[in-house]
Amino acid sequence: MDSRNGSVSETPLDAEIESFFDSAPPLKDSAGIIKKLKEFIEYNSTPPRKGSPRRVVCVTSGGTTVPLEQRCVRYIDNFSSGHRGATSTEYFIKAGYAVIFLYRRGTFQPYCQSLPEDPLLECFECSEDSTIQVRQPHTEAVKRAVSDHHAAIAGGHLLKLPFTTIFEYLQILQSIAMSMKDLGSLAVFYLAAAVSDFYVPWKSMAEHKIQSASGPLDMRLVQVPKMLSALKKEWAPMAFCISFKLETDSKILLEKAEMALKKYRMHMVVANELSTRKEEVTVVTGNEKILVCRDKTQADSDVEEPLIELIVGRHSAYVKDSDL
Ligand code: PMT
Repeated sequence: MDSRNGSVSETPLDAEIESFFDSAPPLKDSAGIIKKLKEFIEYNSTPPRKGSPRRVVCVTSGGTTVPLEQRCVRYIDNFSSGHRGATSTEYFIKAGYAVIFLYRRGTFQPYCQSLPEDPLLECFECSEDSTIQVRQPHTEAVKRAVSDHHAAIAGGHLLKLPFTTIFEYLQILQSIAMSMKDLGSLAVFYLAAAVSDFYVPWKSMAEHKIQSASGPLDMRLVQVPKMLSALKKEWAPMAFCISFKLETDSKILLEKAEMALKKYRMHMVVANELSTRKEEVTVVTGNEKILVCRDKTQADSDVEEPLIELIVGRHSAYVKDSDL
């Protein structure tokens, strides 16, 4: 029996998932995270006078790490700057969604795209009377970032939850999904995070820093169970689910995306190739392959704007169909 969701495990995959969660180190402040989620979802699903409840999307962003030691000094990382997730979050909020932004600490944040790399040190200066002010070239960007970010947080439309390891990521994702279950078709998962496929189980992990004096390192990594199946089957079965497929070999990309669509029963798979991911993506659905491109005539355009527009349209149709 899975103690977290009360369901009986039948297949080997269920057993793998159960074993992953059972052996994971306990999530810090799990009760606090669940409370924040509950309040955020309740707030957004209680319509203001005559309004309708807000749709809620969980956007995952950035790469997960795999610790090699319990008192972690070394880890394996996954590539992702978090740009896709952060930018998509802005467009979802603009389209009227409430966003749960599950992000890797230190990666790109919504509303900060036009700021320099070290905004605190580069955007501000100390004047003679010791007040802090924004340096001229950055005034507009800082104003926009601060006001849009504050509006999203103060309006209750953006909840940010950080993770670092694969353990934290999957435990928080499960809590989010189970909190969103009752939203039915109004819930969306947009899984742009780059998730580790292999990990070292907590119980077989060295406690202390691995010593190099013992010679070459042999280490067995176990496969991380694909959580897309559990998400779709048990955690939030009515949610509209979009997963991503990243490849470096364009020849296998669409085939792999189609396989993922069928195997995990996703509504859409966004296929992207590493080197062109900021220019174009292909959205694979049950019967289409839709190429979505950045508007190359505009210097500051991005591929996320048309992508989110397409997703919002498809989600609206899904909500309508589910209501019939
Ligand atoms: O962050 P950027 O620099 O802007 O780059 C964006 C991106 C390239 C990271 C993004 O667009 C992207 O493609 N993200 C998914 C990358 C990835 O991990 O692909 P995958 O083939 O390993 O996984 C496919 C899907 O399965 C993902 O949606 C993932 O959430 C899910 N997964 C993966 C492993 C696992 N054990 N369980 C999962 O559910």
